[in-house]
Amino acid sequence: MSIKFPQIIGHRGCAAYAPENTLPSIYTAADMGVDWVELDIKLTKDQVPVIFHDETLDRTTDSTGFVKDHTLAELKELDAGLWFGESFFDTRIPTLEQAVDALIECELGVNFEIKPCEGRERETAEVALDMLSQIWDDHNKILISSFSPESVEVTAEMAHGWARALCVGGGDELLENWAELAKALEVNALSFDGNAATQEQIMLMQEAGLPMLAYTINDEEQARALQSLGIRSFFTDSPDILQDVLFMVH
Ligand code: G3P
Ligand code: MG
Repeated sequence: MSIKFPQIIGHRGCAAYAPENTLPSIYTAADMGVDWVELDIKLTKDQVPVIFHDETLDRTTDSTGFVKDHTLAELKELDAGLWFGESFFDTRIPTLEQAVDALIECELGVNFEIKPCEGRERETAEVALDMLSQIWDDHNKILISSFSPESVEVTAEMAHGWARALCVGGGDELLENWAELAKALEVNALSFDGNAATQEQIMLMQEAGLPMLAYTINDEEQARALQSLGIRSFFTDSPDILQDVLFMVH
């Protein structure tokens, strides 16, 4: 697996400048010149993969309740942009398929993070990867990741030729057995919490010899500090800030 991960990955699209995990967020990232974005995948009640982060609708839509209790038709009724700003009125939750169309149109690479609702770890990965394998064909521009080892395991089974990463957290929330899991799942990268991880934890992770991607770095000083420790890929809500402070590695 010789995939080269970019230095800057727009987090949930471009979450500081557009409503996260929406089509405007993808287009904004592209306009800012990023090469890749990160997007979260969940399943609707009727098993359609959609781009959404939280378990509930409360924070980022004009409704409430659990995503898993709503069908796609019900979710499509909701406004997912107004909470962020009036100019985003009438923005809808995108399906995975709609997001892929936008990514292809913008020639962006993508880290799809499988974000299953509890108990749907296997099924979310299966449905998403089944669809993705039919509509995405550039192996050099995709990374599948998850906090769920089960979802990463399904990725290894169903999308063996695509890069996969385990999200391991950091600080007090560092996944205890991350090293064993990363080895067993033969992941190609580690995504870690670049704000919570201690220097010691980062150095231990580096011993695994895998590319490391730090989330979610919106602060200049933090970006510089991590870069000085040898981290070269960053998820950020504000690509413009990191574009200005990182020295570019080719
Ligand atoms: O995939 C990296 C990062 O997005 C993980 O955290 O909660 O923002 O999905 P979260
Ligand atoms: Mg994410």
